[in-house]
Amino acid sequence: MKAKIFFEKNSEVSKIDNRIYGSFIEHLGRAVYGGIYEPGHETADDMGFRQDVLKEIKKINVPIVRYPGGNFVSGYNWEDGTGDKAARPKKLDLAWSSVETNQIGIDEFQEWAKRAGSEVMMAVNLGTRGAEEAKNLVEYCNSTTDTYYANKRRANGFDKPFKIKTWCLGNEMDGPWQMGSKKPMEYARLACESGKLMKWVDSDIELVACGSSAPTMPTFGEWERTVLREAYDQIDYMSLHNYYRNDKGDTAEFFASSMIMDRFIKDVAAMCDEIKAEKNSDKTINLSFDEWNVWFHSDEADKKQEKWQIAPPLLEDIYDLQDGIVVGSLLITLLKNADRVKIACLAQLVNVIAPIMTVNGGDIWLQTIFYPYYYTSVNGRGTALVTKCECGSYDTEEHKNIPYIDAVAVENEDGKLTVFAINRSLEENCEITLDMKGFEDYRIVKHVSLEGDDMTAHNSADNKKNVIPTEKSIDGAGSLTLSKASWNMICFEK
Ligand code: AHR
Repeated sequence: MKAKIFFEKNSEVSKIDNRIYGSFIEHLGRAVYGGIYEPGHETADDMGFRQDVLKEIKKINVPIVRYPGGNFVSGYNWEDGTGDKAARPKKLDLAWSSVETNQIGIDEFQEWAKRAGSEVMMAVNLGTRGAEEAKNLVEYCNSTTDTYYANKRRANGFDKPFKIKTWCLGNEMDGPWQMGSKKPMEYARLACESGKLMKWVDSDIELVACGSSAPTMPTFGEWERTVLREAYDQIDYMSLHNYYRNDKGDTAEFFASSMIMDRFIKDVAAMCDEIKAEKNSDKTINLSFDEWNVWFHSDEADKKQEKWQIAPPLLEDIYDLQDGIVVGSLLITLLKNADRVKIACLAQLVNVIAPIMTVNGGDIWLQTIFYPYYYTSVNGRGTALVTKCECGSYDTEEHKNIPYIDAVAVENEDGKLTVFAINRSLEENCEITLDMKGFEDYRIVKHVSLEGDDMTAHNSADNKKNVIPTEKSIDGAGSLTLSKASWNMICFEK
């Protein structure tokens, strides 16, 4: 099979906001306890944070981490996770039928984020709580005033404010599974009034309003428009969430996941612009795709988990090769939409539907999805270029005209150029011709590929390197072949 990839200098989608390489840590399963935090662990630092985990996160260079949920946040009292650890209450977490010990809260998490080199993206509880607690939390985190919550922070040992810039107005408030879920107008009013007070406390913060929990939600569209109409002046971003599944074990279909993501992004961006026009506003609402990943492998195991455990092993999907390729293709889609998607969070980061896995008291290992995330985050910074592919396509039961090849070129700030590409064909390798105007003097210096014969191959604590990317040899003529069913990173230099 043959295909052509086109892009040219100065034909930009947008400068990439590095926050699209964000991730997510929720108080859920072993993400916090046993994931980022394990005081007795041999790599634990002075605060009990696992340094083996921190090392991998720093390698990825995760710019922003959403916290503390997720569904968890909708029943959370943030005050429970502050101050004297011995006095913190143990509580029922109704989101995940678990017990929350509150040994980690915002006091510790903001310190962990500093050690990881990340910013915190903080979510407030608009499920069981509201504007009052949300604005108090902004004061606790960011205020320098001589007032109750800022003084509480000081009394808890933090003289300097945490300076948290990005805030989520609740989580998935349209979902019946959410504690305190809302009708579109109920949420829209609450988001508007909470956001207003939060910005009155700190006018430098940015706010992300909940969009739909998935494009398949019955209120999708109505939800976004209602929220935008009511809260346009308060909010800065509309959130998108979606998880991709391969229930039927149909790889060809699963490889179309990024088309579903692309359509979702374009639909929500269009709604933001529709309301912008309706309001005759100069302000553009951009997108925060703050939960995305593959998630379905752990569904059955999770149903069997006993309730009310501390840090049970929940949502521990074991990702295979095809999941890795899909995650790589979803990153390509985020880059192709870099003009509108300014924040994105791979959900999640450690143990819970995660690229990084730990063994309690033991080792760390990396899932297949770690690799495209790592390579794209490290090499996909700069400016995304409009990238077109001329290639064949295929149909599945659910999708028509799925292009075999998808690609995006990124002009890096150091003058290098990186192309990320997938070949969706399960049968044929693809010979690529590159038409790259303005980059004629560039040559391929590296080609990394995630590929293999067994789409269900995966890594584990005992077989850590079963699926890892391979570095392909580069021939002098600069020809490029994408193996069948593969995700690729091709680096160019002058
Ligand atoms: O990431 C896991 C869960 O998925 C989050 O808690 C929730 O927001 C979503 O439904």
